[in-house]
Amino acid sequence: MQKLIVNGGKRLRGELSLQGSKNSALPVMAATLLCGEECVLTNCPKLSDIYAASRILNCVGCRCSFSGNTAVISSESITESSIPEELMLEMRSSIIFLGAMLGRAGECTVSCPGGCELGPRPIDMHLAALRKMGVNIRESGGKIVCRTAGRIHGAKISLPFPSVGATENIILCAVKAEGETIINNAAREPEICDLCGFLRACGAEISGDGESRIVINGKAKLHGCEYSIMPDRIAGATYLSMTAATRGEIVLKNACVGAMEPFLSVLEQTGCSIFTTEDTIYLRSGSRLKAINDRIRTMPHPGFPTDAQAVLMAALVTAEGTSVFEENIFDCRYRHTDALVKMGADIQVLGKIAVIKGVEKLCGANVEATDLRGGAAMAAAALAAEGRTEISKICHIDRGYEKIEEAVRCLGGDMERV
Ligand code: UD1
Repeated sequence: MQKLIVNGGKRLRGELSLQGSKNSALPVMAATLLCGEECVLTNCPKLSDIYAASRILNCVGCRCSFSGNTAVISSESITESSIPEELMLEMRSSIIFLGAMLGRAGECTVSCPGGCELGPRPIDMHLAALRKMGVNIRESGGKIVCRTAGRIHGAKISLPFPSVGATENIILCAVKAEGETIINNAAREPEICDLCGFLRACGAEISGDGESRIVINGKAKLHGCEYSIMPDRIAGATYLSMTAATRGEIVLKNACVGAMEPFLSVLEQTGCSIFTTEDTIYLRSGSRLKAINDRIRTMPHPGFPTDAQAVLMAALVTAEGTSVFEENIFDCRYRHTDALVKMGADIQVLGKIAVIKGVEKLCGANVEATDLRGGAAMAAAALAAEGRTEISKICHIDRGYEKIEEAVRCLGGDMERV
């Protein structure tokens, strides 16, 4: 089992080019199923979740090859419309293959993705929307069997909550459906826009992405294309939080500055100097961070991202004063706090609220990653702490960060994989 060993206390300083976005690459990979031709994806991050997605594509008959950060996916012939349970369970986002398979083959059998480390993650909104588009869905024995009689048709769908995954599944199913689909209360996350950008490059007709009302006009045929995946705003938030926590200085290149605005505007309140150009973020944090006065409420985009809650918390545990988080998206998203407390942080959690009283310093400890972003928060705290930290169960971290130890070392941090 691999571990990360961190010798903390060094200020991070240097330049880093940001990896491509995991949460964008995964739905785009699913979307290649709709093209029936070769697609070339550049800026694709090399991550275990990306390889899990390519195993799903392989299993249904696609060919995938990787060379550096370029993935070539050919979906000319689909041989299978069922995705085996072991592949579905490898990652929760495997559910977005459902909409894409339905769009391509008109049928698909998947297993229930079940709960995950963030608590129960139901897919009721996904299924209700697909039913409205004419998909017949039967759930039995842990399997979700989806069939259609004829072509899937467009529909007017109002989501009760702007779910990212449900919005993606509807878009994927709608781009080749008959007629118009309208999604009201759609998720507005930048990764939705990236998925739509890819689909438009393949010939799809979509408007309104990035806003709450998305309109899709179904097309009988799409074609392949070459597309560059957007930079990862959450990995960006992580490396900025690590730098802020160690009172360092960073030039973050290949960044999606606009997409990171909700995070940057909160981080700036800690007293860091932040300057941006179109695709570069410069951050300098010379002295102790200040706590954030206003409650940090995680919300759907353009609110503060739930995925950045843990990594910002890791920086705030040593800030001067008290900060308060309110987690509004997931039920179990404070599982990293026990590890931070073990390292000396003062955190009280009550339901969706976490109160962080800044302490002078953290001390290294042996901790276990609980989930992807929680594990990254432990890495950020370890870099700021005095002494040695061992982080185990780093398979969680590897799901979302491309060679995190190399990125940290390139900023002068002491992090090693053993
Ligand atoms: C995506 C992101 C994840 C991020 C989250 C919120 C990917 C691969 N993952 O996850 O990193 O944290 O958006 O920004 O892009 N819900 C239901 N029923 C449904 C669907 C969702 O109750 O049918 C609930 C979920 O349990 C959760 C909330 O809605 O409490 C938000 O979920 P959703 O936006 O769907 O997140 P994901 O797409 O799973």
